[in-house]
Amino acid sequence: MRNKLIAGNWKMHGSLVGNPALLQSVAAGAATLATVSLAVLVPFPYLAQTRSHLEGSSCAWGAQDVSDQPGGAFTGEVSAAMLQDFGCRYAVVGHSERRARHGEQDGLVAAKALAAVEGGLTPIVCVGETLEEREAGNTLPVVFRQLDAVLDTLGVRRMARTVLAYEPVWAIGTGRSATPAQAQEVHAALRQRVSAADWVVGSGLQILYGGSVKPANALELMGLPDIDGALVGGASLAADDFLDIGRAAARA
Ligand code: 13P
Repeated sequence: MRNKLIAGNWKMHGSLVGNPALLQSVAAGAATLATVSLAVLVPFPYLAQTRSHLEGSSCAWGAQDVSDQPGGAFTGEVSAAMLQDFGCRYAVVGHSERRARHGEQDGLVAAKALAAVEGGLTPIVCVGETLEEREAGNTLPVVFRQLDAVLDTLGVRRMARTVLAYEPVWAIGTGRSATPAQAQEVHAALRQRVSAADWVVGSGLQILYGGSVKPANALELMGLPDIDGALVGGASLAADDFLDIGRAAARA
């Protein structure tokens, strides 16, 4: 049985003044959720503050990106070791917003996932198709291409130290989530692909769904056989909504 993980991707939201109330509510709520893991993925400048509020709680934290490089002349980048310094457990890699806005290609995403694993972090590796790709019938070829780059670079054994997230680009921030059938189909296909390389790794791999997850649709999505949690954007900025999604995952 795979545990469920509900991870809140704050994206470029938050403030030094506003964060403590959200973090304290999430920490308090996490204590009541024995069977579901929670995490928040915050902007880099808030990692120290996040640690100070969540240390000792059952809510983990992490970053939204990590460099593929261990250190050196890489202006603006943040290494896995630096994230370790701030107690991070997770780093998102390959989010579609970074693929689209920063031109991150599969090879770089895979290198970031490898740097995270080697640096003792758990990368949350995002894959997902655009609406155009879905309508052209290319959903599975696209997510397989994105997954294969990571599988090839890490090798299947190291894949066991990652979390995968299926985030259809057309469902992110649109209010329009994938239907349960659409999500389950892709999750099952992703798991099968990893299982073909190593059955134990594939069957144990946590695969999160992301894209307009909210309290109203969480129970149905979290109840699907190959969905092991959620990567939550907008709804992670309100403690009540985020914790309601956690409670739905616990019931599912
Ligand atoms: P929303 O939940 O706001 O659609 O964002 C999903 C997402 O991109 C999480 O990484």
